[in-house]
Amino acid sequence: SLLVAAGGGTVGDSVGFLAASYLRGIPWVSVPSTLLAQVDSGLGGKTGVNHPAGKNLIGAIWQPAAIVCDTDLLRGLPAREFVSGLGEMLKYGLIADAEFWCWLKAQTPALLKGDPTALNEGIYRSLQIKARYVAADEPDLSGVRAALNFGHSFGHALEQCAGYGHFRHGEAVIWGMRLAARASKEIGWLAAAAEAEIQAVLAALALPPLPDLDPEALLQALAHDKKREGATVQTLLLRQIGAVDSLGVELSTWRRWIGEFMASEGSHPVS
Ligand SMILES: NC(=O)c1ccc[n+]([C@@H]2O[C@H](COP(=O)([O-])OP(=O)(O)OC[C@H]3O[C@@H](n4cnc5c(N)ncnc54)[C@H](O)[C@@H]3O)[C@@H](O)[C@H]2O)c1
Ligand SMILES: [Zn+2]
Repeated sequence: SLLVAAGGGTVGDSVGFLAASYLRGIPWVSVPSTLLAQVDSGLGGKTGVNHPAGKNLIGAIWQPAAIVCDTDLLRGLPAREFVSGLGEMLKYGLIADAEFWCWLKAQTPALLKGDPTALNEGIYRSLQIKARYVAADEPDLSGVRAALNFGHSFGHALEQCAGYGHFRHGEAVIWGMRLAARASKEIGWLAAAAEAEIQAVLAALALPPLPDLDPEALLQALAHDKKREGATVQTLLLRQIGAVDSLGVELSTWRRWIGEFMASEGSHPVS
C-alpha cells in the first residue's frame, strides 16, 4: 500500500505518522497544498500528531518516497497562508543565504500575489536549503538541523499562549524572528543596520498584532518548549544576515528580552 498525504502541514504530519505506524511503516507520498507545507513541513520526514500534553510529543521521522509541490494547488489559498509560508522562506534566507534573503525582499509582492514563476523559484530554493540541513542531521540529534528552528522559541510560545489557531504557524515565527533579531543585536552579534533591515522587512508583512499576553506566561511556555539545561535555554541568534549560531541564554535574560519586546511592539487584547 501507498499513502498519499494531500493537504497542509496538519494533513502531512498526521498522514505521514499514520504511514510510519501502520504495519510498522508503509511508503507515503507528500503532496503539500499550502505554501508553508511546500517550503517546509512537506520535506524532512518529521511526522506526528498533537497531544493535550504538548506539541511534537508523539511522532516519528519517516521520509516520504516523493514530495510533489504543485503551485497550481496554491491558487485558492487565503492571503494569510501566503504570509505564513513566506515567514519560513525568509527564515531560510536569514539563517543560511543572504542572497536568497535579498531575492525574497524583492519578490515579496509577487510571492504574496501567488505569482507562479516567483513561487516556483522561491519554493525550490527553500527546499534546497532545508534539504541540506535535513541531510546533515536527519534524526535531529547533532544540533545542525536545529538551526531550522530560528525564531521558533518565542514563536511557539506565542502560538501556545495566544491559543492554537490565533496565529498561523509562520506568522508566529515572524514575530519570533523579530524578537531574535533584536536580541542578536543586543548581544553584539548582529550589526544595527542589518537588524533595522530585518525589522523593516518583517514589520511590513500583514500580521495579527502581538496580543496582550502575560510575559511571564510566555517565558514559562518557552522554557517548557525547549530542551534546556538548568536555567539556560539554547537559543538561535544571528551573527549576520545568512549566518545563525546557538548560544546558551539565561532565563532571566529571556525574561528581559520578552518584556522589552512586548513593551516596544505594543500589545493588543486577544480577540
Ligand atoms: N513536519 C514538519 O517539519 C513541520 C514543519 C512546520 C510546521 N509543521 C506543522 O504544520 C502545520 C501547519 O501547516 P499549514 O500551515 O500548512 O497549516 P494547515 O495544514 O492547518 O492548513 C492551513 C489552512 O489552509 C487550508 N488549505 C490547505 N490547502 C489549501 C489549498 N490548496 N487551498 C485553500 N486552502 C487550503 C487548510 O484547510 C487549513 O484551513 C502545523 O501543525 C505545524 O506544526 C510541521
Ligand atoms: Zn516552522
